Amino acid sequence: MKMTAFAAVSSIALFSASSVLANPEAEVLHWWTSGGEAKSVAVLQQEFADNGGTWTDMPVAGGGGDAAMTALRARVLAGNAPTAVQLKGPAIQEWYEEGVLADISSVAEAEGWADVLPASIADHMKCDGTWCAAPVNVHRVDWIWANTDVLEANDIEMPTSWDEFNAAAEKLMAAGVIPLAHGGQAWQDATVFEAVALGILGADGFRKAFVELDEATLTSDEMIAVFDQMRTMRGFVDPNFSGRDWNLATAMVMNGEAAFQIMGDWAKGEFMAAGKVPGEDFLCASTPGDGFLYNVDSFAMFDVDGEDKKAGQDLLAKLIVGESFQEVFNLNKGSIPARTDVSLDAFDSCALLSSADMQASSDNGSLLPSYAHGMALRGAQSGAITDVVTAHFNSDMSSAEAVAQLAQAVANSY
Ligand code: GAL
Repeated sequence: MKMTAFAAVSSIALFSASSVLANPEAEVLHWWTSGGEAKSVAVLQQEFADNGGTWTDMPVAGGGGDAAMTALRARVLAGNAPTAVQLKGPAIQEWYEEGVLADISSVAEAEGWADVLPASIADHMKCDGTWCAAPVNVHRVDWIWANTDVLEANDIEMPTSWDEFNAAAEKLMAAGVIPLAHGGQAWQDATVFEAVALGILGADGFRKAFVELDEATLTSDEMIAVFDQMRTMRGFVDPNFSGRDWNLATAMVMNGEAAFQIMGDWAKGEFMAAGKVPGEDFLCASTPGDGFLYNVDSFAMFDVDGEDKKAGQDLLAKLIVGESFQEVFNLNKGSIPARTDVSLDAFDSCALLSSADMQASSDNGSLLPSYAHGMALRGAQSGAITDVVTAHFNSDMSSAEAVAQLAQAVANSY
């Protein structure tokens, strides 16, 4: 009897103590598993631990996050959502509409996010006017990376037009160098495709095609030219490209096996993690054409029970947008801070170029969301486009046929 009374009293004491002084905990689902990515996410894990948090890691390998998103769906359907999830673009609003996201407005307001984030980024983080995600960075997608020595040895400059790129690639092939390091996975095909599309269609054409899904643009002669260039580039990749992970393609540029890679600046995170120096070991330039394709990584919190988990979500959201984290994380990740008030003094020339180009493109209306990285369209629409892009790249489909299929796939995706 005495024992029972004692147990009851102590459990009440424990309960009230934990609700007042919760121990922040978070299970975090993400797809940052490559060398540079893992170094970056370790920064967040460390800050979380330093602030009393207990982090349970749920990494799901697979560049671009397709596998991670499949894992997320399974967890949510099983009624067991992770506490925090790497989630971005319109997928945030899609999950919000399913009623499974937590509202993090109290953290956002206490931390003054509206004052330190550009409106173009803040808009992606909102669901019906409330804050439903925390932004980590701004990645640029339309980059071309090159091995400095390989270009020098072959007397090649960074290309400023697609014709120059093609001429350089022909020269490299004749010299026995693989011109383009590529991993044949659908999202990587889409990454190259959207960079080519931005260059050939221009910013307005890109917006019409991949933001507004304008049929006339999707079936235009310019879009045929985009697929023609993709066909040409198919001839510049090595025979083993199929299925290769993006970071292994980056390694081919690092070790001089290949000259170029077209990839977002998470590739720079790989170069940096391997101790390579921008401007010396490798070069960065925007892909030919004007404009800037942005890809903002962010985390959304899922509606979960338990004071410790809720405390973990609040702490995580606060740290993610914190000034110190945004600096250190992005130095490792290859991206630039989402916050506008973080000093870029410690950042390299590629990051400074990204920041300047982002500002200029924002001013002249050519700052555009990446379709390939889930910033422009809902999943059904971007998936429909990528299916056609990858089917074309991996077959002998004509450009005219690809364009016809593109318009049809988009029309069927609603
Ligand atoms: C992107 C993501 C980046 C990077 C890349 C490769 O979609 O935004 O942070 O991780 O995939 O995995």
